[in-house]
Amino acid sequence: MTAPAISSYISTGADRQKAEIVSIAVHPDQQNRGIATALMTDTPAGLKRRGVRTVELMVRTTNRLAVRFYSRFGFKRLRRVARYYDDDAAGFPMRKRLTGKLERMGKSGKVPSVIISTPVVTAAK
Ligand SMILES: CC(C)(COP(=O)(O)OP(=O)(O)OC[C@H]1O[C@@H](n2cnc3c(N)ncnc32)[C@H](O)[C@@H]1OP(=O)(O)O)[C@@H](O)C(=O)NCCC(=O)NCCS
Repeated sequence: MTAPAISSYISTGADRQKAEIVSIAVHPDQQNRGIATALMTDTPAGLKRRGVRTVELMVRTTNRLAVRFYSRFGFKRLRRVARYYDDDAAGFPMRKRLTGKLERMGKSGKVPSVIISTPVVTAAK
């Protein structure tokens, strides 16, 4: 039997009202099939159900493709942050507000700090 392999993932850290997409990647063999689009759509929707109001992420200012990609999902570019990365490159924080009626989990309406990592597993060839 062939072991399953992780073909893509999105990693998100979330607090009660705010979340950050830390990383997203799709295996090169699986790219351009809409997997990242699905992850970028489903993750904010899930966070919104937990009561999160804002999602942020950081992107290199030179990565125009990524800025355009995230803009598609409603992320707006904020001020430039100099020397954000280990190699001293600058970053743009990007933010998406999750507006509309918010559903809350549990009676307290509180969501604990949590790291949500969503690997997508497919059978290896
Ligand atoms: C970016 C990435 C997650 C997209 O995954 P995917 O499943 O192929 O994406 P989808 O099929 O849902 O959407 C395709 C879109 O991804 C975007 N894209 C492709 N390569 C990209 C890249 N290197 N960086 C950012 N966006 C990219 C394009 O906008 C493309 O849209 P287009 O077809 O109109 O050109 C994937 O290319 C990847 O894992 N790259 C390496 C890791 C990475 O760059 N992560 C993001 C860093 S900010």
